[in-house]
Amino acid sequence: GVSWKLADHPKLPKGKTVAVVVLDGWGEAKPNEYNCISTAETPCMDSLKKGAPERWRLVRAHGTAVGLPTEDDMGNSEVGHNALGAGRIFAQGAKLVDLALASGKIFEGEGFNYIKESFANGTLHLIGLLSDGGVHSRLDQLQLLLKGVGERGVKRVRVHILTDGRDVLDGSSVGFVETLEDDLAKLREKGIDAKIASGGGRMNVTMDRYENDWNVVKRGWDAQVLGEAPYKFKSALEAVKTLRAEPKANDQYLHPFVIVDESGKPVGPIVDGDAVVTFNFRADRMVMIAKALEYENFDKFDRVRFPKIRYAGMLEYDGELKLPSHYLVSPPEIDRTSGEYLVHNGIRTFACSETVKFGHVTFFWNGNRSGCFNAELEEYVEIPSDSGITFNEQPKMKALQIAEKARDAILSRKFDQVRVNLPNGDMVGHTGDIEATVVACKAADEAVKMILDAIEQVGGIYVVTADHGNAEDMVKRDKSGKPLLGKDGKIQILTSHTLEPVPIAIGGPGLISGVRFRNDVPSGGLANVAATVINLHGFEAPSDYEQTLIEVVD
Ligand code: 3PG
Ligand code: CO
Repeated sequence: GVSWKLADHPKLPKGKTVAVVVLDGWGEAKPNEYNCISTAETPCMDSLKKGAPERWRLVRAHGTAVGLPTEDDMGNSEVGHNALGAGRIFAQGAKLVDLALASGKIFEGEGFNYIKESFANGTLHLIGLLSDGGVHSRLDQLQLLLKGVGERGVKRVRVHILTDGRDVLDGSSVGFVETLEDDLAKLREKGIDAKIASGGGRMNVTMDRYENDWNVVKRGWDAQVLGEAPYKFKSALEAVKTLRAEPKANDQYLHPFVIVDESGKPVGPIVDGDAVVTFNFRADRMVMIAKALEYENFDKFDRVRFPKIRYAGMLEYDGELKLPSHYLVSPPEIDRTSGEYLVHNGIRTFACSETVKFGHVTFFWNGNRSGCFNAELEEYVEIPSDSGITFNEQPKMKALQIAEKARDAILSRKFDQVRVNLPNGDMVGHTGDIEATVVACKAADEAVKMILDAIEQVGGIYVVTADHGNAEDMVKRDKSGKPLLGKDGKIQILTSHTLEPVPIAIGGPGLISGVRFRNDVPSGGLANVAATVINLHGFEAPSDYEQTLIEVVD
């Protein structure tokens, strides 16, 4: 069994309220017109940076520092919060799927054997994000999967695509569809009946998260399972090109469509006897569709038909719910997270965000595990997000409300750790709207200020950091850093995350003098934050955690 008792820290006291603030999508980059953070008025974050140089630094938030395959992989909220909460670097879904495909083990496991039963008499449906973003899925993995099933007896394949434009450039969907069509043509040459059957933009179809809006999943269900959508096309290329030409259309929010044959019949509804694989490795935006595909009892929307299928996820998406029950690749085993340790050592924890990021400071923080460890010591509060809007319309989002909840939790003195995620920089940054993102950053800064003021009042400690970059760079650049222009002569807006490091600041009246960032952890990353926070609660971190960022000098 695990020994949960943490040793006392030799120098740092217990009993201080510690606020842990995660600014989502808040990286550090040189000031310029595409850096919405430097453009925005952010007096609070500025003062942390300028105030105490030994209590502000940068940490790595992308690539191998957070368990991603390469240094070209931008950070994201899943791997970022996993690292922040777990204090160690785990090979993440992207990497695990790469390995399983490279070794061929993906085709030998329980999950694959389970779906393979349907190959002789049924259709294999693949549903997921068509993109090379590497955040939720990767096109090259889909290609290897298609090749692999082709070699293993599949007779009929239908792909249900979700277009991206959020982790990759808007408009890139067209090229991805062309690539996929080429691969499907190769399968057809081998006598396999392979087609794209439906599609839609990821933010409009299927990929909702944390139950923000079940209609998104329903639109996907209607197209993928029932073969019904407001738009019908003969080919996916035609669909994507035509729908993108509508006013204000973009890849993220493309309307749902189905592909129909000459007689107008959908080419690939999901029916009894079929197999389904959701090929995203990342969990948050797959949990809802997994429930719809798997749960016998389901009341979130009317499924009309609930086909008897064999369903497998690329990964297991929720370790607590064991969802889905079949999967192709085992997820990272993120165990003994800092949250679990702290609760075992009596730390009373409050965690809060608004819906769209709620699971980030709870589910991801706790190692992709829903629910709390000990309801008597923990309180998780979700503030409902606005739904049905894009966040550039409301760039302040619920930052103020989150800060008020955190402030009240701090002032109540009922909690030892008060943890929040402030979504603005990320969620508005993803819209590509520069003006709105500037407003978003200011709102996040004001929220930080409110939380820090409360910490001041109770004599507590704060840790302010971020999970990955986004708002600090809104333009696609060439290797030398020069903004890239599109065919239309306009700059190419970067809606995605970045490779930039993120700041971490510590302080507050509860921090004893002499606490400062060490300078012997220069390549420190997000995984080093957990040990740091554990120290600030007065404990030594578990010995296998990534080392703490702080030291106490006399
Ligand atoms: C999303 O799911 O919104 C993006 O693909 C990644 O954003 P996140 O990692 O900040 O959630
Ligand atoms: Co993001």
